[in-house]
Amino acid sequence: MSSLPSQLTERVMSVTGIDPEMRPATKPQFGHFQSNVAMRLAKTEGKPPREVAAGIVEKLELDDLCEPLEIAGPGFINFRIKSEVLASTASELMADPNVGIVQADQPQTVVIDYSAPNAAKQMHVGHLRSTIIGDCFNRVLTAQGHTVIPQNHIGDWGRQFGMLVEQTLDEGLDPAELDLAGAEELYKRANAHLKADEAFADRARERVVKLQAGDEQTLKIWQTLVDISKRGFDATYRRMNVLLQPKDYAGESMYNAMLPKVCDDLEARGIAKVDAGALAVFVDGYEAPAIIRNSQGGYGYDVTDVAALRYRVGELHANRLIYVVGSEQTHHFKLIFGVCRKAGYLPEEVRAEHVGYGMVLGTDGKKFSTREGTAVHLDDLLDEAEAQAAPNIALAAIKYADLSSGLQKDYTFDAERMTATTGDTGPYLQYAHARICQIMRRAEAEQIVVPEAISVLDEPAEQQLALLLSRFGEVVAEVGESLQPHKLCTYLYELAGAYSSFYEQCPVLKSEGEVRASRLALCQATRTVLDKGLGLLGIDAPERM
Ligand code: ARG
Repeated sequence: MSSLPSQLTERVMSVTGIDPEMRPATKPQFGHFQSNVAMRLAKTEGKPPREVAAGIVEKLELDDLCEPLEIAGPGFINFRIKSEVLASTASELMADPNVGIVQADQPQTVVIDYSAPNAAKQMHVGHLRSTIIGDCFNRVLTAQGHTVIPQNHIGDWGRQFGMLVEQTLDEGLDPAELDLAGAEELYKRANAHLKADEAFADRARERVVKLQAGDEQTLKIWQTLVDISKRGFDATYRRMNVLLQPKDYAGESMYNAMLPKVCDDLEARGIAKVDAGALAVFVDGYEAPAIIRNSQGGYGYDVTDVAALRYRVGELHANRLIYVVGSEQTHHFKLIFGVCRKAGYLPEEVRAEHVGYGMVLGTDGKKFSTREGTAVHLDDLLDEAEAQAAPNIALAAIKYADLSSGLQKDYTFDAERMTATTGDTGPYLQYAHARICQIMRRAEAEQIVVPEAISVLDEPAEQQLALLLSRFGEVVAEVGESLQPHKLCTYLYELAGAYSSFYEQCPVLKSEGEVRASRLALCQATRTVLDKGLGLLGIDAPERM
């Protein structure tokens, strides 16, 4: 079922032929929506706008939805939704287990590539953003009835393991005794060693070859380091309360065996060509090709993504692919999509989207880093927010701050501002929800029964609240389509605002009879939508704060 504003739009459009561009009325006396469509048509038709408006109003059949239409000022048409329509729409929402979220009539299989940290390194803020944003997409698309397959494309293969394994052997270390932080220290020592010692660098290179050749001892150390890393990531995921599970790991190493086949296939069909010793795919519009095998016969990041995409479409049967990776990789993904389209791995009807995101900045406006100028670990960041608030509130603060500004924008990590319970923050929304829960508890204590239906909606503040509630499903659909979570944030913030105006203007527990019952039902509906909406952002809504 579409929301009231879109139902209205559709009906008006069938008469006007052009988008009526419904706007919320600027004042309650103008009803709920206004349109200047008559004024726009009057220009093209060369007629007085009020006359055009009268003509439209006469043709419109909206008796079931609206009070009699009014023409105002120079030719605006004002629409006032009948209060019983508002009431029944809000009541339907309450009765709907999906809270108005439209279920896809053709559910898709959506593969979302997100988080993707690198082994033997702790997650940094970039991975934080990817994890939070991807988690939100996962929740939204799942709520719409799609099948979501998360793929955590961790960096668990590559040259760095040459030096890591070699350093482990040099130090006579039992890698099983390390944790992720310890593995990261090892990484740093190995890196320093590599720079200072030619002979070590040579051995590290040879070790890469051994790793690729499947040397048993090398593989064992590699596997241990990867396992340690995963355990560390899992602990962070649990701390972040995200949906990612161990089964979602699909790291780079998983595609190793497929890489030669992909190269052969591309070469055999003339899609890849040998270029200066390397195997390359040129894509129209890109000067540099994708290198799918370098001149030494090695495979890299590009071909791994080609193989991964082919697997996701071919084996996982994805209809839609979403990659949540920092904006600095925009070019990489365009090129990979280009290669895969050309190769037929990515058929026309499968949608592939790279969702980039900006950086996290410190309060000094610079790229977020520690006092020593090194990259901040995600756990440090969580610690910092938790210094300001309880863990579930700190998490809400971080997630909301991350999702509520446009994804492309850099955002400032200001723990104090983010955790504030006033303003456009996660904790403010949690607080709004908890306040409603408190009212419901009081009603319960007074043994007032909350009805299933909203029956009376006479006050403008009640009507505005009901109108907003009816838009929830549409907003969720919009986020699933455009992958812009800030639209849901803005909506929830508006909803909390509308609720607080309602609460100021319309006594709930102090009113009586049907009015009280209906207002309580409206509170309950608001609570449900806030809870569900926050849930889609990955934010939990505690009943008490
Ligand atoms: N591990 C990479 C990084 O930390 C991100 C991988 C993103 N996903 C992909 N399919 N390339 O930058």
